Amino acid sequence: MSKGMFITFEGADGCGKSTQLSLLNEYLAKNGFKVLVTREPGAKGLGERLRDILLNYDGEVSNRCESFLFLADRAQHIDTIVKPAIENGYIVLCDRHTDSTVAYQGYGRGLDIERINYLNDLATDGLKPNLTFVFDVDVDTSMSRVGSQKDRMESAGIEFFNKVRQGYLEIAKKEPDRVKVIDSTLPIEDVFERVISIFKTFLK
Ligand code: TYD
Repeated sequence: MSKGMFITFEGADGCGKSTQLSLLNEYLAKNGFKVLVTREPGAKGLGERLRDILLNYDGEVSNRCESFLFLADRAQHIDTIVKPAIENGYIVLCDRHTDSTVAYQGYGRGLDIERINYLNDLATDGLKPNLTFVFDVDVDTSMSRVGSQKDRMESAGIEFFNKVRQGYLEIAKKEPDRVKVIDSTLPIEDVFERVISIFKTFLK
């Protein structure tokens, strides 16, 4: 059986990536691809427990502890869900992955980027996405999309989200072949046209 593919969806909260992931999932399924949709943090099982802590724990969480919880979730997710699916020929569409840790814990919280890259590599056992979409929106737009019901991460403030956004743009500059930035202030259909066009180019 031929190997599958690993595509990740990234961007600040409220950037619209989950909508685009669903649209690509529908498109691929209609076109006969085997697709698996998943997410970080918390795809299932142990991951769901970690997700609950990461998004809802209301006591103090140190920045390094937060990073390790995301990384622990990632290691479990890669080993038990992503790798087996890719080996069985699935296109895996993942809502957030390693670039979230670089953007949020690295650029956002200020932890050392090189160390995070190293830890990400440990958590993924060296597996890298084949293609990554970064959905870019200004912070005012993304925060207004999130609304007033914010989880622990979403409550981090405007300055934090500006750094996260800049972080994603830096990542894309460093890895232009893998990471494609799409202006996500455009209407949903226009953003999706870009997604499909990039995906088709990538398949060639
Ligand atoms: P989620 O509800 O999945 O957000 P979204 O719908 O925007 O994807 O919450 C995940 C939150 O966790 C989000 O605020 C980003 C954050 N996060 C990190 O800070 N680091 C990480 O490594 C990952 C995977 C997520």
